[in-house]
Amino acid sequence: MKKNHFFMLATLLLSAAMSTGSVVAADKALAQGKNYHRAKWDPIHFKPAIDSATNEQCLACHKEILDRKPRETSPAGVKKSEVLAWYETLNTYEGEQDTFHRRHLLGPLAKKLMDMKCNTCHQGNDPREETVGSSADSPHAPAMRKMVDPNTCLMCHGQFPWKHMTGLTGPWTEAGKAFGNNCMACHAVFRTNRHKVNFLKPEAIEEAGKTNGDVCYGCHGGRAWYRISYPYPRHAWPGMAKEIPEWAKNRPTESQARFLNDVKTK
Ligand code: HEC
Ligand code: HEC
Ligand code: HEC
Ligand code: HEC
Ligand code: HEC
Repeated sequence: MKKNHFFMLATLLLSAAMSTGSVVAADKALAQGKNYHRAKWDPIHFKPAIDSATNEQCLACHKEILDRKPRETSPAGVKKSEVLAWYETLNTYEGEQDTFHRRHLLGPLAKKLMDMKCNTCHQGNDPREETVGSSADSPHAPAMRKMVDPNTCLMCHGQFPWKHMTGLTGPWTEAGKAFGNNCMACHAVFRTNRHKVNFLKPEAIEEAGKTNGDVCYGCHGGRAWYRISYPYPRHAWPGMAKEIPEWAKNRPTESQARFLNDVKTK
């Protein structure tokens, strides 16, 4: 009996020593960025650290985000070179099928008109359950089971808000023809103070939009995943009327604060 107990104790002590050893090993692995759980709960994923995180910092662990490519063929055998979705039919669409992340960060159109960072979309989420209100620390967590707040997507993937545009009688696909499919027919004068945010290139957008309505429409109805449109801030513009239309009464007059960091033109 006694002998047996001694043996058990020895085993316990030995395994305790071994686990201390593995903690040291884990720390070493952590120093090389290799411990999975520590990395998953790295403060960089959460507020406030995520606000100042650079793409390089995120990519040090998530290189796959930009490396991954779509399959050559779908599991059902459809070749990627033979498919074109409705949202890929705007005349600004270039190149072969690519991943969601690459289309927003590396695609030719993205590079020309946008300057998105990982934290433009990722604002931190609870990796435990990916849901709101389930843990004490998540009063401002993103929407249910999302890693990104869909309101961010809505800015560029909402419906074309034609009802707010005096002079338009219907959706752009119908009413646009009368204006030569050119938004500048009106927007050379209306709401001219626009796009001065840290994830867009305002000059490049104006330049490209001058001659191609699909450039503007692409972010304002041409790839609408939502049935609503984004309540855009209404920046004052030269020649703006004094009275505020009914629909615009609750609109902010400036872009969200986090989109104004590092904006030079203001
Ligand atoms: C030290 C390495 C490391 C860094 C730096 C890092 N991550 Fe992660 N991240 C991880 C690991 C590990 C996971 C867990 C992966 C899994 O479960 O598949 C993870 C998970 C995620 C997830 C998925 C969360 C979920 O609920 O499944 C997102 C989104 C994410 N990271 C984004 C980012 C962004 C954006 C940055 C930069 C602000 C970043 N990460 C920086 C290691 C890192
Ligand atoms: C245009 C917005 C956007 C940008 C910019 C963006 N992401 Fe994401 N990311 C998403 C969305 C949406 C998902 C899917 C979320 C879900 O499934 O709920 C996602 C998922 C992820 C995931 C987890 C799932 C996966 O695909 O492995 C990681 C990790 C991640 N992003 C890292 C990054 C990093 C690193 C960057 C910057 C280089 C970045 N993201 C930039 C929107 C974005
Ligand atoms: C600042 C504007 C902007 C924001 C914000 C944005 N997108 Fe996009 N998105 C674009 C543009 C521009 C394209 C077209 C890219 C191209 O044609 O190369 C696009 C394309 C896409 C595509 C189609 C990709 C393909 O294969 O053709 C999907 C899906 C998508 N976005 C989803 C989202 C989601 C989900 C979010 C939010 C997490 C989001 N986008 C946020 C501008 C944006
Ligand atoms: C017939 C004139 C006209 C044309 C053409 C036109 N717009 Fe507008 N647009 C307006 C007016 C007027 C407003 C509202 C001005 C105000 O805030 O009082 C407006 C507002 C907007 C808004 C802000 C809506 C909101 O809810 O805050 C966006 C975005 C917009 N236009 C994009 C476009 C795009 C993109 C095109 C081309 C695809 C376009 N417009 C074509 C007249 C026009
Ligand atoms: C790459 C996506 C993208 C393109 C291309 C684009 N927009 Fe926008 N637009 C946005 C986003 C995002 C906002 C909201 C920015 C903010 O929060 O201030 C916006 C805001 C606006 C507004 C509201 C202005 C205000 O008062 O702040 C108008 C009007 C508008 N866009 C018209 C246009 C016109 C006209 C074009 C073509 C010349 C165009 N957009 C091209 C993404 C885009």
